[in-house]
Amino acid sequence: MMSLLVDHIGELVTNDPSVGEGALGVVRDAALVVEDGRVVWVGPSASVDRGTDEVLDAAGAAVVPGFVESHSHLVFAGDRAAEFAARMAGESYAAGGIRTTLAATRAASDGELGANLVRLAAEYRRQGTTTLEVKSGYGQTVTDESRSVQLAARLADEATLLAAHVVPPEYEGRADDYVRLVVEEMIPAGAPHARWVDVFCERGAFDADQSRAVLSAGRAAGLGVRVHANQLTAGDGVRLGVELGAASVDHCVHLTDADVEALAGSSTVATLLPGADFSTRGPWPDARRLLDAGVTVALGADCNPGTSYTTSMPFIVALAVRELCMTPAEALWSATAGGARALRRDDVGHLGVGARADLAVLDAPSSLHLAYRPGVPLVRDVLKDGRRG
Ligand code: NIG
Ligand code: FE
Repeated sequence: MMSLLVDHIGELVTNDPSVGEGALGVVRDAALVVEDGRVVWVGPSASVDRGTDEVLDAAGAAVVPGFVESHSHLVFAGDRAAEFAARMAGESYAAGGIRTTLAATRAASDGELGANLVRLAAEYRRQGTTTLEVKSGYGQTVTDESRSVQLAARLADEATLLAAHVVPPEYEGRADDYVRLVVEEMIPAGAPHARWVDVFCERGAFDADQSRAVLSAGRAAGLGVRVHANQLTAGDGVRLGVELGAASVDHCVHLTDADVEALAGSSTVATLLPGADFSTRGPWPDARRLLDAGVTVALGADCNPGTSYTTSMPFIVALAVRELCMTPAEALWSATAGGARALRRDDVGHLGVGARADLAVLDAPSSLHLAYRPGVPLVRDVLKDGRRG
């Protein structure tokens, strides 16, 4: 049994209100003890029992739960920098570029795709993310979706089958035929490797009936439901997700009152991805409206080569505070505990006793600095299951 003491924490965010102050459960001048990768004690540094195998001296720094990224697309090859430049020169985003990544991904070897995923997962980790969900969705043949979801399952914490991302070029004008292929072949092939099924429910991608068919088939195969919903237009995605008991509906930029009401009366999390709105120069989601209605809000970076090529959860926290008008405390909660709720995980996203010892030590005395010092590499140390690296 390996034990570790993280000592002299200036400000410890536990996200456990029974342990400390406010919704973030803040303990000042704190210490935290880890045994076998789990938190076994949290409290004032002055009263900790000092007999552990190892000590990590935080020297007055802030410690926060590791970020929980519940939405990323890391199985891909190539990039779309030229498309980004065109957008910044005035072109609008229409998701058509997904096909560029589709072609590059199909042409790549398993080794190339795996190496790219590992590189991006390491970027996430260096910036404090300790739980990572990864979606397929740039393969869109039975073989390519299956290998994508297997890579995600092997190299990330949570794998999602997003076979219904766009209608691939060879099914142009035959979306229903593609949906049949997803339901009859891709889900049976991919489900054993995935925990979740997802669909891009959007004008130009999959409509409500097609999305329902994919999500219901995924659910029947034992997968939990998540939806890319209401990103570019107000549509049926959010309400469909709620109806099907989705863990999360993601993007939520264009919402009607009925969407907000449906979310408020459900256990479905609204996951906001402001990195995508930033890089498409789109409108921001109305986080305040959701929070004021009592909806659980998560934040994700949505790393993908098209709309949001960032792995920085601190950047997302800063955007959420500045542009979505979330308080720094709300944004940090949503990027940690909120992400955990979106993945239906109770072992991560907090640092109460029993939680996984997944945490980030900041080069700052307070977690406020995550939003206060945007663009600054503030993560000094990261532990996952109580271990570095
Ligand atoms: O979450 N909206 C669909 N999927 C991605 C974008 C994918 C792409 O443009 O490559 C998203 O924004
Ligand atoms: Fe996405």
